[in-house]
Amino acid sequence: MDAQKLQLLALALFSLFLLAKSFVPANNFLLNCGSNANASLYNRVFIADSARPSSVSLSAERSVSLTDENQSPDSRVLYRTARVFTAESSYGFNIKENGTGTHLVRLHFSPFRAQNFNLASAKFNVLANGFLLLRGFSAYNMVLKEFLLKIDGQVLEIMFSPLGDSGFAFVSAIEVFSAPKDFIIDDGARLVNGDGIESYKNLTSQVLETVHRVNVGGLKLTPFNDSLWRTWIPDVGFLVFESAAKKAATTHVPNYQNGGATREIAPDNVYMTAQEMNRDNSTLNGIFNITWDFPVGSLGAPHLVRLHFCDFVSPALNQLYFNVYINDYSAYRDLDLSMLAVHVLSSPVYLDFVVDSDDSGVIRVSVGPSDLSTPSKINAILNGAEIMRLVNPIGLHANSKKKNTWILVGLIVGGFVICCLAAAGVLLMFKCKKKRAKPPRRVESAGWTPLRVYGGSSYSRMSEGTATTSPGPNGSLKIPFVDIQAATNNFDKSLIIGMGGFGMVYKGVLKDNTKVAVKRGVPGSRQGLPEFQTEITVFSKIRHRHLVSLVGYCDEQSEMILVYEYMENGPLKNHLYGLKHPPLSWKQRLEICIGSARGLHYLHTGSAQGIIHRDIKSTNILLDENFVAKVADFGLSRSGPCINETHVSTGVKGSFGYLDPEYFRRQQLTDKSDVYSFGVVLFEVLCARPAVDPLLAREQVNLAEWAMQWQTKGMLGKIIDPNLVGQIKHSCLKKYGETAEKCLADYGVDRPTMGDVLWNLEHALRLQESGTEEPCEDGNMNGMDYYATPSITTSGPSGNAGAEKDDPTGSSDMTTDQIFSQLMTNEGR
Ligand SMILES: *[C@@H]1O[C@H](CO)[C@@H](O)[C@H](O)[C@H]1NC(C)=O
Ligand SMILES: *[C@@H]1O[C@H](CO)[C@@H](O)[C@H](O)[C@H]1NC(C)=O
Ligand SMILES: *[C@@H]1O[C@H](CO)[C@@H](O)[C@H](O)[C@H]1NC(C)=O
Ligand SMILES: *[C@@H]1O[C@H](CO)[C@@H](O)[C@H](O)[C@H]1NC(C)=O
Ligand SMILES: *[C@@H]1O[C@H](CO)[C@@H](O)[C@H](O)[C@H]1NC(C)=O
Ligand SMILES: *[C@@H]1O[C@H](CO)[C@@H](O)[C@H](O)[C@H]1NC(C)=O
Repeated sequence: MDAQKLQLLALALFSLFLLAKSFVPANNFLLNCGSNANASLYNRVFIADSARPSSVSLSAERSVSLTDENQSPDSRVLYRTARVFTAESSYGFNIKENGTGTHLVRLHFSPFRAQNFNLASAKFNVLANGFLLLRGFSAYNMVLKEFLLKIDGQVLEIMFSPLGDSGFAFVSAIEVFSAPKDFIIDDGARLVNGDGIESYKNLTSQVLETVHRVNVGGLKLTPFNDSLWRTWIPDVGFLVFESAAKKAATTHVPNYQNGGATREIAPDNVYMTAQEMNRDNSTLNGIFNITWDFPVGSLGAPHLVRLHFCDFVSPALNQLYFNVYINDYSAYRDLDLSMLAVHVLSSPVYLDFVVDSDDSGVIRVSVGPSDLSTPSKINAILNGAEIMRLVNPIGLHANSKKKNTWILVGLIVGGFVICCLAAAGVLLMFKCKKKRAKPPRRVESAGWTPLRVYGGSSYSRMSEGTATTSPGPNGSLKIPFVDIQAATNNFDKSLIIGMGGFGMVYKGVLKDNTKVAVKRGVPGSRQGLPEFQTEITVFSKIRHRHLVSLVGYCDEQSEMILVYEYMENGPLKNHLYGLKHPPLSWKQRLEICIGSARGLHYLHTGSAQGIIHRDIKSTNILLDENFVAKVADFGLSRSGPCINETHVSTGVKGSFGYLDPEYFRRQQLTDKSDVYSFGVVLFEVLCARPAVDPLLAREQVNLAEWAMQWQTKGMLGKIIDPNLVGQIKHSCLKKYGETAEKCLADYGVDRPTMGDVLWNLEHALRLQESGTEEPCEDGNMNGMDYYATPSITTSGPSGNAGAEKDDPTGSSDMTTDQIFSQLMTNEGR
């Protein structure tokens, strides 16, 4: 079976698994009001009101069960009856203790005339646990009202209160059921008010009323098609300029791995259709917005706008950048879905915003190209939109302190995007030149065992994961937020030592005087949550002298904070070029390479699981006060493939200039992808220049390609760091160059394992340290015993692979190439 079949099979199994595990609410009440017969609607049974279970109570002084005698036979059975209240009355629903939290409440009203009642003339209020849901409400036609509300106690009371004019109220059917976990989260929504972008606090305490639920670019979806029995309507009626938009659709099931959305957030069908910019229309000038106006009826009232995205229109990652506007305010600049979806295409993402409706009673949503778009890639998409009214708004304009954070994050993300664009251009330039002589080959299994890095495939399941994966007994790595505040002088800006996609890194000192590096995710942002989870999961399982250790973490409230041991000398990169550090000696550099190879080798083989780092680069190798190298930043790490699989198939991640070309081509991840990146680091250490330097002459931009040209010519010595000239022994450089070269082999199968690399680097160090400069190119190669048993079992901190058996005086005519190929065939990789 080849890799693709395997993938398909896995996908099929996964879909089956999902179907079998469709959402089951903890609390689920469906009531056919005023009836003594069960009725079914969309395969769900609404229990007869008269036979309601003991968990549902009715306190009605005066109420009437009304049946419509005149209805045509095809009308829905559910709506043939209603309960009429002629005085204030209520239903009570007993909520299971473990099922409290956000619930969906749906009230069905289907008016008819019977006995003395014309239900369309009823006028009444509806309250839920004291919140006024509907005020002065009348239903002239069939109406379905949906609310989302948090239930804290054990009872939900829905009260109907007739108003004087009519003197009675009615209801046809009621649904009350638990929403999926984290369906609404407290800090997840951005406040859009033209005044900067802040996060909206306390969203779960809001009662929300659904106003619109729209499947953008798609068809109407009925409750049959939705695990929460929602109806989604097409967007066409809301488009301001229909000709600006073009429908797009995919047949591929969305990849729910990384984006934060789940099938419960919105069903597949929502994410499989979209509107994109209609760039075919030549009368439009190429740069325009797609705009939808959603009427909301209430002026100046706050609404939750939930937008759904899934980028299946881009051929590759980081090509689509667009802006989102709500009511003409900028809501999200330079949105790069591949960043939010943690670098995977076709991954559903949703974003929540809170905004006031404007004076015309509409919410206007626009998407349009960002300045970052390359002219040929200009586009903007939207897959779905939900508009919900905040029924009991509180504190909408209260908080304004977080503005600066968002702007700062915007700057960081923006800067990163620009770098990526530049790098992508460079990479493409070089990819075009690259020959593809060999057919792709598969890397056979190396005994990887699976590790579930994520608690699940979605935001909600991830946060469950937090609880279950908290490391150590009693979550001993958890650090209280107050302690972290104290350690960092309340996140004092002067203590910032770095920043990244995840957030700021601060230097800090814990109560016990341990120096630490504190990495704080943007509070309230879902972005980075998978990295956060991964980091905790991965780190809690491994300890190694050459891996930066996790001291603790904090997930209180919406914080995502990781605390690491402090590395006095910072990233290796800073000691190679750019900054004003004294140059490292060649021996120091070799030892750093050996240390990081050891750390990486341990990741691959040493712990119970094979872990692929997937973002090896000189900024992720940190140096402690003694210049001991430690590998850091496991945010992108993945477990290796399962025993019976050969690779982890996943979106391309990693950093340009270090990216395994095979991984890039085939999006298949093996431990050999790390080996490739490590090879780039080896050249970086030797040449003291960045992996990609766009300012250099074209043939020099990409270090891997440039160094390989010199290496194959046997003239690597020409491009080494000038500070190293005269320091490196010939034999050592030769060994080092060959090792780096092997790492950069086009195909993973041709690359050595990290164990081999480690062993060869140690050999290079011994060549450097051995007393005599070897005169002969090949003569002192050790031959078979030397290579046949590389001590790749060594993984402990004190291990020194191969040191004991090595005696570099053996005699063999074998060249390194022969030896490596021998290794390959022997071990059948
Ligand atoms: C209605 O459905 C409930 C639950 O499925 C069942 O227990 C009850 O017997 C049904 N009642 C009638 C009248 O069919
Ligand atoms: C909720 O609690 C009930 C009894 O207390 C138990 O039977 C049920 O399994 C619990 N459900 C969940 C989802 O924990
Ligand atoms: C959130 O809202 C609830 C209910 O209105 C209130 O009790 C709580 O203090 C609020 N929390 C914050 C952080 O504002
Ligand atoms: C929605 O469900 C109905 C009934 O099962 C089905 O006929 C229809 O094709 C579905 N629509 C989509 C878009 O899947
Ligand atoms: C192109 O756009 C113009 C202006 O919006 C519109 O009138 C025209 O119908 C569009 N043509 C097509 C083919 O969509
Ligand atoms: C898109 O809409 C926003 C908000 O109304 C506006 O500021 C921007 O100029 C529009 N962009 C284009 C290209 O029309």
